[in-house]
Amino acid sequence: MRGAVNLLLLLLLAAVLGLHWVLGADPERRNVELFPAMVDAVPFESYAANPHFADGKTAQAPPPGARVREAGRFGYGPGPEEALRAGRELANPYSPHDDTALSRGAAVWATYCRVCHGPSGAGDGPVARRGVPAPPSIHTGRARAMADGQLFHIVSAGQANMPGYAAQVLPDDRWRAILHLRALQAAGPPAGSAEDAPAGSPEGTAAGAGPPAGTGAGGAP
Ligand code: HEC
Repeated sequence: MRGAVNLLLLLLLAAVLGLHWVLGADPERRNVELFPAMVDAVPFESYAANPHFADGKTAQAPPPGARVREAGRFGYGPGPEEALRAGRELANPYSPHDDTALSRGAAVWATYCRVCHGPSGAGDGPVARRGVPAPPSIHTGRARAMADGQLFHIVSAGQANMPGYAAQVLPDDRWRAILHLRALQAAGPPAGSAEDAPAGSPEGTAAGAGPPAGTGAGGAP
């Protein structure tokens, strides 16, 4: 019995080796390609020569007047220098007396900004109260002294721990949110907030007081 099994295995081995030899993979030959259209593109490659254009190139220069997508209404790069430039060059298209814009700005603030900045901009939103670095109060020096365009740049491109909101909030709504931010500043900080603390310091925000009662380890995430 044992001998028969061994013989069978030997035959099998011989068969496999024989098959390997017969099919003999030729390293010079391409393997079989299934769906070759996935490998060999039908259109011209971007940098391939192209007889259909006068200059013989496939990648053509954009037509005159074409704009880079990112350079649409917000043509600024990230960073504080660009924020300062935006502060010099941009003005809020909405008037502080435009009630429709103001109420829209309040809605934008409530939707996108309040979670971190808090209802009055003191930097005490629920996200900040649960351990995320708190934003500085908008009532203390820095944001108060910034030009509208600089605020617009921060809201659009972000600043340090704050992400940009260009992808979520339309430019007009960002301006309206700034209108609301100015209205909050005009209304002053809420009673009890540490208005005089330097911007960005934990004392200027609720974060300095640690998590509020009721949000212990067992609290909802
Ligand atoms: C995820 C939390 C978060 C959200 C949401 C958020 N911010 Fe901020 N914001 C921050 C943080 C943190 C900073 C401080 C960044 C830094 O350290 O420079 C900041 C800074 C700012 C500043 C500059 C303040 C200063 O003194 O430098 C402005 C203005 C501002 N945010 C406006 C907004 C507006 C308007 C919205 C809503 C569209 C918004 N933020 C949404 C976290 C947030």
